[in-house]
Amino acid sequence: MEIKGTAALITGAASGIGRATAIALASRGANVAVADLDESGGAETVRMVQQTGAKAVFIRCDTTRTVDLEAAIAAAVSQFGRLDIVYNNAGVGGEDLFADEAGPWKRMVDINLTAVIEGTRLAVRQMRKQNSGGVIINTASMGGLLPMPGSPVYAATKAGVVNFSRSLAYLALDSRIRVNAICPSYVDTPLVRRGGEERMNEVAATVGGILQPEDIAAGVVELIEDDSRAGAIMRVTVRGGRDFARDIRA
Ligand SMILES: NC(=O)c1ccc[n+]([C@@H]2O[C@H](COP(=O)([O-])OP(=O)(O)OC[C@H]3O[C@@H](n4cnc5c(N)ncnc54)[C@H](O)[C@@H]3O)[C@@H](O)[C@H]2O)c1
Repeated sequence: MEIKGTAALITGAASGIGRATAIALASRGANVAVADLDESGGAETVRMVQQTGAKAVFIRCDTTRTVDLEAAIAAAVSQFGRLDIVYNNAGVGGEDLFADEAGPWKRMVDINLTAVIEGTRLAVRQMRKQNSGGVIINTASMGGLLPMPGSPVYAATKAGVVNFSRSLAYLALDSRIRVNAICPSYVDTPLVRRGGEERMNEVAATVGGILQPEDIAAGVVELIEDDSRAGAIMRVTVRGGRDFARDIRA
């Protein structure tokens, strides 16, 4: 899909990977709806997108609430007249599975997996209504392809996003909607920085360095532009650059 002239909705776009992708798409001529819980970060992303000459709108959205996701899609459509690209990117890290309460890990599943499924469902509904095809990208993680000692729930949610996205490859034939997932290794964003400087250095030493949010945005751009990709699982790592996980055959 040519990005110029499209309308995109990005969740978790007030920060990190979502913000970098909003700017990357805007600088290629897309208008961008910025959906996030964080209003001040969202306003800043809108400003940065507008600096490229593109249109942008902020929608305060908790992706775990269907009504919020519906409102975000409706706002994008009313601002831009259509919706071509949905990037389900909002996510959280930092679990403590064996804490006293089950609430935090369940909230992580709600944000990292359930909301991505719901965001995809609603995006497909809108794109089918338009009958114009579209592209949906979901942010998974290398943690969805490899074990993550210390973060088993995070790893489970991201593995869920990987196989969910892969299982929707058929939509390309069915409705001209391409669903793909992207699996970043560690990226320099607040999500990782919250673990502290020592953790950052430890991570960088293990995986050969730390990626920048723009590295992931470049992967998202590639997945949107390459019409041959549907159900694809793109990995982005320091050592391997961008490549694709091969299908697991039964
Ligand atoms: N940073 C990494 O190393 C890394 C690696 C692999 C995958 N990821 C994934 O990339 C995605 C983006 O993360 P990031 O690193 O840019 O982190 P980030 O913390 O910079 O950005 C995440 C954004 O999501 C928003 N958000 C969180 N919960 C939300 C909700 N319920 N509704 C709406 N918005 C919500 C936050 O407000 C924030 O703006 C996440 O899905 C994350 O799991 C990150």
